[in-house]
Amino acid sequence: MKRIGIMTSGGDSPGMNACIRAVVRAGVHYKLEVFGIRNGYQGMIDDEIHLLESKDVANIIQYGGTILKTARCSDFMEKAGRKKAFENLKKHGIEGLIVIGGNGTYTGAMHLNREHGIPILGCPGTIDNDLSGTDYTIGFHTSINTAVDAIDKIRDTADSHHRVFFVEVMGRHSGHIALHAGIAGGAEGIFLPERDNEFETIIEKYVKRTRQKEFSIYIVAEGETEGNAYEIAERFKALHPDADCRVTVLGHVQRGGSPTSEDRILASRLGTHAVKGITEGFSNHAVGIVNQEVEFTPFEKAIFDKKDINNKLWEMNAILGK
Ligand code: F6P
Repeated sequence: MKRIGIMTSGGDSPGMNACIRAVVRAGVHYKLEVFGIRNGYQGMIDDEIHLLESKDVANIIQYGGTILKTARCSDFMEKAGRKKAFENLKKHGIEGLIVIGGNGTYTGAMHLNREHGIPILGCPGTIDNDLSGTDYTIGFHTSINTAVDAIDKIRDTADSHHRVFFVEVMGRHSGHIALHAGIAGGAEGIFLPERDNEFETIIEKYVKRTRQKEFSIYIVAEGETEGNAYEIAERFKALHPDADCRVTVLGHVQRGGSPTSEDRILASRLGTHAVKGITEGFSNHAVGIVNQEVEFTPFEKAIFDKKDINNKLWEMNAILGK
């Protein structure tokens, strides 16, 4: 193998640049030419493919976002789109691919590999941390820190005004961000899709604790099945009309910003091992770090095995969030 491609796809996450840098520099180490594909699978279809040299990835490790840009691409969901993309890869002599992204990115890679045989490895890049085969995904730590910083600020004003805040954090179908940000932010309660009946539990606790403390912060995962932060606040208000409730939706601020050192190191390790793996003949797998060791997990398993939240943290929060 002489030439590989590198691409970011789906929602961006802080640390993607550190991963691109690692792939390019490890590529140089393993005597490969690395081609950057801009704008995700759409750029593969539109032939936005250019050689990346070591100097092109200098001074990017500290930046959020992705220098290769990203996209969610519906054309790539069709066989015809994937065929066109593969023809472009062939035209540039690209014999292997490394993709950085989440569920949708891995699904696209799996189909491309099945239909055209090109070896592909994936690096988990999503703030949601919802991919199996890795303890953490690139961007997760940074997004928690952003959320916690916001929660600390909300705590100041909640305290001053004796208010009840419902803070919605990202996580399309998962509560990893909510759980970690909730614990680090000292929240009184956390709502997430992986667990049920949080509303009853927090109401019970709220009734018990109003005498001791005069404000509360509840974290709601975007994918919570009991409703979004506004709906949960309404239900709360109906039971406690005297409570002065406010809702804050943190939204896309959680996707940006300079990556934490954890994310930079994780991204560097994953990118380097992806290149090493592809030179050793690995394909159709996601690279991850499990218990500090590098692991390769088949795309199918990484996509479909639902990664549960850390139950020990969840149980601990029931003790601490009073
Ligand atoms: O998958 C990452 C994520 O940030 C989710 O938490 C969120 O639901 C989604 O992306 C938002 O996507 P978009 O930026 O396309 O609105």
